[in-house]
Amino acid sequence: MSDPVFVAFATQKGGAGKSTLTTLVASYLYYVEGVEVAAMDCDSTQHSLNVYREHDLLVTKENPFLKRAMRRFYEKFRKRPYKILLVHPSEAYKVAQQHIDEGNTPAVVFFDITGTINDRATVNLIANMDYVFVPITTETGEMASSITFANHVNNRMITTGETHIKGLRLIWNKIRTREKTRLCEIIDRYIAKLGLDSLDTVLVKSDKFEKDGHEIGNSGVFRSTLLPPDKRLLKGSNLPELVAEIRKIINV
Ligand SMILES: Nc1ncnc2c1ncn2[C@@H]1O[C@H](COP(=O)(O)OP(=O)(O)OP(=O)(O)O)[C@@H](O)[C@H]1O
Ligand SMILES: [Mg+2]
Repeated sequence: MSDPVFVAFATQKGGAGKSTLTTLVASYLYYVEGVEVAAMDCDSTQHSLNVYREHDLLVTKENPFLKRAMRRFYEKFRKRPYKILLVHPSEAYKVAQQHIDEGNTPAVVFFDITGTINDRATVNLIANMDYVFVPITTETGEMASSITFANHVNNRMITTGETHIKGLRLIWNKIRTREKTRLCEIIDRYIAKLGLDSLDTVLVKSDKFEKDGHEIGNSGVFRSTLLPPDKRLLKGSNLPELVAEIRKIINV
């Protein structure tokens, strides 16, 4: 079996969609496409993935509709939910390796990393990734911040050879249409001059990205660490297309 691929959605900009993308892509790969995954929650202040998992456990326990959806799904799926390990950035690489040495066989390990690139542990962790995807939005401040981050990783790490990183790509997130807008295309041309490149697929801006289930009611879930995204909500999201494009790049 080939080695697990280490992947991070990373940027210094808070709120660009790192934890959301990590969860959506990990859950889609695991629950829809049957690819083994593990997730390392290295966000030592917010513990986002862990918070998502606890939320998901709570709502699926309390809400009869979700409870039924869980039962139906797991009767067929016959595997446990993927592991989310909460770990400090300085330990994350080692803990992921241990997880694999213990006999777990994820094809992809996702690392949810906080924004800062000033701290050594985070920089070292990013350098240990095989692939880094940088979420970028068209909001001016966020856009500049993601480009600075990607450029920094590219110049300071990749071109100096001080890293495992085999691929670095930006991902347009929170876009109002399913295609790149004119602004995305203009920025793509600008970042190409820096040696940077974005994925063809963009993720649309939509309230469904926050749909993670409530304790009451029957609105489907889109972002869950326990269930696949609801089929009706998948429509128009570009998530399947995004996962397909990522799989080609990371060769999984
Ligand atoms: N495509 C999208 N459409 C609508 N909302 C989105 C989309 N992507 C992310 N969001 C929302 O944006 C907010 C920030 O996302 P998220 O927490 O994933 O960012 P982050 O980069 O992990 O932030 P942090 O740096 O604080 O860890 C969340 O409320 C999330 O639900
Ligand atoms: Mg986050």
